Parts: sequence; C-alpha cells; structure tokens
Amino acid sequence: HEEFTKVKNIATIELGRYEIETWYFSPFPPEYNDSLKLYFCEFCLNFMKRKEQLQRHMRKCDLKHPPGDEIYRSGTLSMFEVDGKKNKVYGQNLCYLAKLFLDHKTLYYDVDLFLFYVLCECDDRGCHMVGYFSKEKHSEESCNLACILTLPPYQRKGYGKFLIAFSYELSKKEGKVGTPERPLSDLGLLSYRGYWTRVLLDILKKHKGNISIKELSDMTAIKAEDILTTLQSLELIQYRKGQHVICADPKVLDRHLKAAGRGGLEVDVSKLIWTPYK
Ligand code: COA
Ligand code: NA
Repeated sequence: HEEFTKVKNIATIELGRYEIETWYFSPFPPEYNDSLKLYFCEFCLNFMKRKEQLQRHMRKCDLKHPPGDEIYRSGTLSMFEVDGKKNKVYGQNLCYLAKLFLDHKTLYYDVDLFLFYVLCECDDRGCHMVGYFSKEKHSEESCNLACILTLPPYQRKGYGKFLIAFSYELSKKEGKVGTPERPLSDLGLLSYRGYWTRVLLDILKKHKGNISIKELSDMTAIKAEDILTTLQSLELIQYRKGQHVICADPKVLDRHLKAAGRGGLEVDVSKLIWTPYK
C-alpha cells in the first residue's frame, strides 16, 4: 500500500486569491484523500474540503498574519518567526502545504524542533504568505535552513534569494556559519548557486590583495565547503604548492556574475530585529 499512498492526491489548492496546481504528493490525513482540491485559510493555514467551509471559517478566523513574532519589516515585506512548539497546528499545516511542492523531503511532524520563517507581502487586507523556510532549533551539522519554498505564483521574482539571504543574516547574528540541509532540489541548488556566486564574487571584485576561504566564510556565514565548491565549479580555484589559491581576474568575475542571474530582493539588515533562539 506504500505505492498507493504515494500517488499525488490533491491536484489544486486555493490559497488567498490564488488557485495553485500542486506538484507532488503530500500525506494529508486520510479523510482528505478523496478530495482533488483543498481550500486553505491563507492566515492560519487550516485546510478544508469545501469552499463553503472556508467561507464560514474566514468569517470567524481573526488572524491577519502568521502567528508568532514579526522580526523584519521593510516596505510591504514582513518576516514572521513562528515557533513550532508554540504553534504546532500552524507548523503542521505549513508542512502539509509545503510538501505539495517538495519532492524528496521527509516531512517532519515533530514541528516542535523547528522555527518557521514566513515571508509575507502585506496590504490593508493582511499579510499574505509568499514563501518560507524552516530551521532546526539545534542543528548538529550547522544547518541554517531545512526546507525552503516560494509559492508558485510568487516564484522567479527574487523571493527565494531573499529567503536564502535572510537565513545567512540570522547565522551572522548567531556568530555561526550555516549551510542548507541536503539533498537540495534542482531549483534549490540553482537558487543557492546563484546566491553563493553573487555574494562571493561581489566581495572578490571589491577586495584588494589576498583573501582566504576562511575570511570569506567569516564575512558571509557561508560554510567553507560551500565556498570551495562554488569557486571550484566556476574554475576560480587553483592548487599551488599544496594550497588552494583563488584566482580573481576581474573580467572572468564579471562574466560569472552576469551568468548568476539577478541579485534577488535585498535584505535590509537594519530592519531585522531579532535575537537568536536559546
Ligand atoms: N527555471 C530556471 N531557473 C530557475 C527557476 C526555474 N523555474 N526557478 C529558479 N531558478 C533559478 C534562477 O537562477 C533564479 O535566479 P534568476 O531568476 O535571477 O535567474 C534563482 O534560481 C532564484 O530565483 P528566485 O526568484 O530568487 O527564487 P524563487 O522565489 O523562484 O524560489 C525556490 C526558489 C527553490 C525556493 C522555488 O523554486 C521553490 O519553492 N521550489 C519548490 C520547493 C523546492 O524545491 N525547494 C528547495 C528544496 S531544497
Ligand atoms: Na522557481
């Protein structure tokens, strides 16, 4: 029956003003498995089988943004930190929703152990989720991101790189280096490669004199291994006299920067009000 349960069940979801086609199977509780479409409350993420149920729910749901603390606001963009232990149902709903767009991730029901960083576009109707990432409260492998998702209607607008940049800003505040949990999806890898390339090559372009991978890691909170593989894949590393040497010909850097795509939305660190989880 394992194979039977892996067949994609929910084909579309309604979320806020969007109807979204799903990508993958998600293990909703059995009573939802006979539905082709689910209706989500865009604020508390409760899901329902019928439109009338959602309409009734919307009249009494008083959330207008994700639960938890607003830790970042810049223009119409806000980021909320949701503790999975304090908001268990929200955390579980978010995981069910996210799994519809994530192929290989095992879903953690133990949402207690995670923080969820939910990015929203805000207007006078409320704060509308565009994407999120999750982070283990205590990661042994210095993972600063477990799952990342931009909802399909918002993809390819720079939110993914914003979420990635945000995860590294949190690591900088913690005084730690970070790395995303493996395996990465194809789209995840593309987004990370683009982010790493842009951040590292911007520094190399401006920097005068020698710089080590350790120094790059201290400046960016990107784990040394990720710096090495990024620079190696761009063929910017040479091995001389038993040492890795970074070669930074400005013309070559410019060519790679162009290929790395747009920078994404910037995180304005002065707008981040946050103290690390203890
Ligand atoms: N085709 C080709 N390249 C793509 C792409 C696509 N459909 N989507 C993203 N990319 C690459 C591009 O290089 C893009 O930069 P560019 O637009 O400047 O060229 C870069 O990734 C990131 O784009 P961005 O707009 O910042 O990201 P996003 O908001 O679209 O979010 C993901 C990226 C990975 C979060 C999103 O694709 C997603 O949620 N995927 C489903 C869940 C998933 O796979 N998560 C990762 C698990 S490890
Ligand atoms: Na995308």
